[in-house]
Amino acid sequence: MVTSTLKKGLSLFKSNPITEQIDFASKKSIPIRHLAIGFDGKQIDLSFYMNNQFATIFFATLSVFLTYGEDLVIETARHHRDMLKDPILKQRVTSLIGQEAIHSKLHNEFNDAIVDLDYPVRLYRFLGEQFFDHIFLRFPQPLKLSLMAGIEHFTAVLAEYMMAHEQNFYFSDDAKTRALWMWHMLEESEHKDVAYDVYQTLNGNYALRVGGFFLAYFTILGLIPFSATMVPLLRKPQELFTSKFWRDARRGVKLIFSPKDGVFGSTQGRIFDYLRPDFHPNDHDATEYFEYYEKKLLSEGGALHPFFVKEFTPKVQAA
Ligand SMILES: [Fe+2]
Ligand SMILES: [Fe+2]
Repeated sequence: MVTSTLKKGLSLFKSNPITEQIDFASKKSIPIRHLAIGFDGKQIDLSFYMNNQFATIFFATLSVFLTYGEDLVIETARHHRDMLKDPILKQRVTSLIGQEAIHSKLHNEFNDAIVDLDYPVRLYRFLGEQFFDHIFLRFPQPLKLSLMAGIEHFTAVLAEYMMAHEQNFYFSDDAKTRALWMWHMLEESEHKDVAYDVYQTLNGNYALRVGGFFLAYFTILGLIPFSATMVPLLRKPQELFTSKFWRDARRGVKLIFSPKDGVFGSTQGRIFDYLRPDFHPNDHDATEYFEYYEKKLLSEGGALHPFFVKEFTPKVQAA
């Protein structure tokens, strides 16, 4: 009885790769862009996001923890790249790895700089490292692959929200923080289907995909907001006794979680769309935003232009 239930349970997670061939050649290739921003803690605006410190701290906390998520994406993508047969999908995975590696590098530079603002970077790095080293990175590869696809879904939803709310990045004069997030969001939208396509090609199991989604959900919308809430207490506890702090915090919670127009509150429908069995990241077409942003940000006068160094596209290697 127990054995048959166990067997039945395990069969739920059997891989079920998609058999129909996706024409990867029809997709636009993904360049790896190098940026040199050079953060200075003294110049970073801790009210960068819509003049609100609480919401800005949420993004700073995300910045610290997402480097670990990116490292997991890089490791998992590298592991699975060799198993792929399609040379163009392989090339897209190389682009994903390259983009994430530079995101992680620049976010780490940003994170180093906010130490000057008494942000508890060292403590959160320690916690992030423990959490990923002892839990997520020990998962079996199929679960890591599903988690990677789940994480990439969240960053894609975030990216598209941010691209649709461009003005939210212009409440501050801090051009470097703006460049960091706009570039990151642009590229998350650009490579949003890669992890998912790899998952479907190599595994495709629905139950496992849902498992990876909930792990990503719990981390991004559970652990990160909780850690962000602790920051004011660790940074400047005396501020908690001022009404200004609570006014700012109330508004900050709304900016992130309001079902009406909050970053994650108003995108729950989009987030849970991932549970649709026939979901694909490209069901939500962001091409128009993407093209507008790419052109606007990188051309002269654009937010990324002063920091842009070079870009290159990995070659397609014969299978
Ligand atoms: Fe990223
Ligand atoms: Fe990504």
